Amino acid sequence: MLDDVYTNLNYFLRWLHILAGITWIGLLYFFNFVNPPFQASLDGELKSKINPALLGRALFWFRWGAMFTFLMGLTLLLYKYTVGELWTRAEGGMSDRAMWILFGALLGSTMWFNVWFIIWPAQKKILGGLKAGQPHPDAAALAKRATAASKMNTYLSAPMLFAMIAPTHYGTMSVTMLVLVLAVGFGMIKFLYSLAPKVGQTF
Ligand code: HEM
Repeated sequence: MLDDVYTNLNYFLRWLHILAGITWIGLLYFFNFVNPPFQASLDGELKSKINPALLGRALFWFRWGAMFTFLMGLTLLLYKYTVGELWTRAEGGMSDRAMWILFGALLGSTMWFNVWFIIWPAQKKILGGLKAGQPHPDAAALAKRATAASKMNTYLSAPMLFAMIAPTHYGTMSVTMLVLVLAVGFGMIKFLYSLAPKVGQTF
């Protein structure tokens, strides 16, 4: 078994990919479902004491989780689909599993871009101001931009994850299925957002 390089490398990359993915998406849900109601309960003084230490650490694991998920995912995509010859069907044309993983990789890469080019640059300035005891002059606009990108990532996370497991466990790709996955995925996230402010209040 150990001499089967393709299977072992494929599995090792998948293992690292999922480990990094859990770190990233787990913290994404912390920032979107747990932290906002908690932040609403804090006064300004407490925020400047707690946030640099708490959010600074959380943002470290969050952004590097995103980077490693992306790098391992791209490596897995090129290695598994090229060496494994999974891009095309025998009768020609792109395979269903390739269409699913390209859809998932497109959503995942958009989410990675939002983290490294919108969310982190904005949060870095906000936390830098808090640490220096001098709130950044554009803190409100920066927070608005980071929150919008993070919310977009949270909504994309549900259809993205469906598309990650579909290549191996679902197979058939169709426009109807794509629309259904987007609709059900967005609906699930909208429900979780509606639940978040009630957690800790009613249950
Ligand atoms: C950021 C861009 C991403 C790329 C390029 C990517 C790429 C891939 C590729 C190529 C596979 C193998 C598909 C196959 O078996 O044919 C895969 C599997 C997987 N990915 Fe991603 N991925 C990305 C993001 C994510 C994220 C954010 C997660 C979140 C946890 C994730 C979770 C998974 C899981 C669980 C599998 C394994 C599915 C299975 O074994 O059936 N991926 N990914």
